[in-house]
Amino acid sequence: MSVLRIDGLRMRLPETARPLLDGVELSVAEGESVALVGESGSGKSLTSRLALGLLPSGAVVEGTVAVAGEDVLAASPARLRELRSRTVAMIFQDPRAGINPLRRVGDFLVEGRKGARARARELVEAVGLEQRVLRQYPHELSGGMLQRVMIAGALMGDPKLLLCDEPTTALDVTTQAEIVALLQSLRRRYGTGLLFVTHDLDLAADVADRVYVMYAGRIAETGPADTLFSRPRHPYTAALLAARPRVGKEAERLATIPGQPPDLRTALTGCAFAVRCPLATAECHTDAPELIDQVACHHSRTGAEHA
Ligand SMILES: Nc1ncnc2c1ncn2[C@@H]1O[C@H](COP(=O)(O)OP(=O)(O)O)[C@@H](O)[C@H]1O
Ligand SMILES: [Mg+2]
Repeated sequence: MSVLRIDGLRMRLPETARPLLDGVELSVAEGESVALVGESGSGKSLTSRLALGLLPSGAVVEGTVAVAGEDVLAASPARLRELRSRTVAMIFQDPRAGINPLRRVGDFLVEGRKGARARARELVEAVGLEQRVLRQYPHELSGGMLQRVMIAGALMGDPKLLLCDEPTTALDVTTQAEIVALLQSLRRRYGTGLLFVTHDLDLAADVADRVYVMYAGRIAETGPADTLFSRPRHPYTAALLAARPRVGKEAERLATIPGQPPDLRTALTGCAFAVRCPLATAECHTDAPELIDQVACHHSRTGAEHA
């Protein structure tokens, strides 16, 4: 069973010339770890927030977003609150933004939950913290410790789906690796499905069984992490891989893909990546490629690779 199933998702705002999300198809199976990757502004956060039933005001949405079989876009506010306390939870980049600085960690964890003290103690241990943090205040904890607290908080209701939006971006590299390892061990222990949103491909490769690559609100390519990263089929995936910062001298010069992603004032005809793509032909500028056999590219159907 899918804990998250997004079908034909399209989201528009009145003031933009193109949809913010355009035909997104994405799923996360029970206990599966899935990464959603792409440059900043591609629509990753919008997609993950929709799984909580959160959308920008004025947004017009088509398609379905089902969490554990239930359409969150059709759910009542009361039902959404229930889903958010039990079925689906989210952690964000900045743990400090999500916690009241004036309340003790223990009170934050049990907030609004009856008989939750024992669960809080169990989770504090499960995320690798000592019981005394329950009596501490957020400012007494490091960013990494606080992100562990947020993870414990997200797991209080034993959710089937945990959405992680750049959860390690604000942390140093060592802490980043620890948090990723922790999420993996918790996934195995509790059987939670993970949707891991990141612009960092190496992180995605570490975390995910499967990956979705998003560009300008569309899925460019999807597949098992190992094949997608070793044999990318979409030129955008290949360009992202080539632009990864490397350890050593090269890392000082942050590699980027030449050109800019399309802005929201420009309507798109054809493939959103065409203007930056080394393989683009006339067809690419006029016809948007559909996602067929896991890749949305006119030039990869022959099986040609662009590594
Ligand atoms: N509330 C909003 N109103 C208008 N535009 C938005 C809103 N939220 C996001 N966007 C726009 O939608 C696009 C995708 O945003 P987002 O999902 O945050 O990207 P990502 O997480 O991949 O960096 C961006 O161009 C962003 O500016
Ligand atoms: Mg984002």
